[in-house]
Amino acid sequence: MVWGEILSVGVDEIDEDHRKLMHIFNVLNHSVMERESPEYIAATLEELINCTVWHFSHEERLMLKYRYKDMAEHKAEHRELIQTAKELQQEILRADNRMVDEQIEFLERWLSGHILTADGRLGSYLSQVI
Ligand SMILES: [Fe+2]
Ligand SMILES: [Fe+2]
Repeated sequence: MVWGEILSVGVDEIDEDHRKLMHIFNVLNHSVMERESPEYIAATLEELINCTVWHFSHEERLMLKYRYKDMAEHKAEHRELIQTAKELQQEILRADNRMVDEQIEFLERWLSGHILTADGRLGSYLSQVI
């Protein structure tokens, strides 16, 4: 996944987080392509999950501070992703690498899709009120 202007939500502090998340995501993707051990892949996913949890708290604090009306819906999407990623992490420790490839693609679509839709809407709102 490559960072590009299309992924910018128009708020620097959120864009910075997203760049960091994408960097870790690319490390994860690389470790899958290089057929690293399931333990290593799970550890990389742990790093991505921790960074994502932190980033979601950051967005949720901004939503509270600026009274974002769609906060509940946005938070629900965050919760769902963390849940899915944690389940995936458990599966990686049990499954073969082919399964992991498909699930990495799923995570990639989810992450870029969320940034382009839910985060894009949040960014448009925040750029008007900050
Ligand atoms: Fe985000
Ligand atoms: Fe978000």
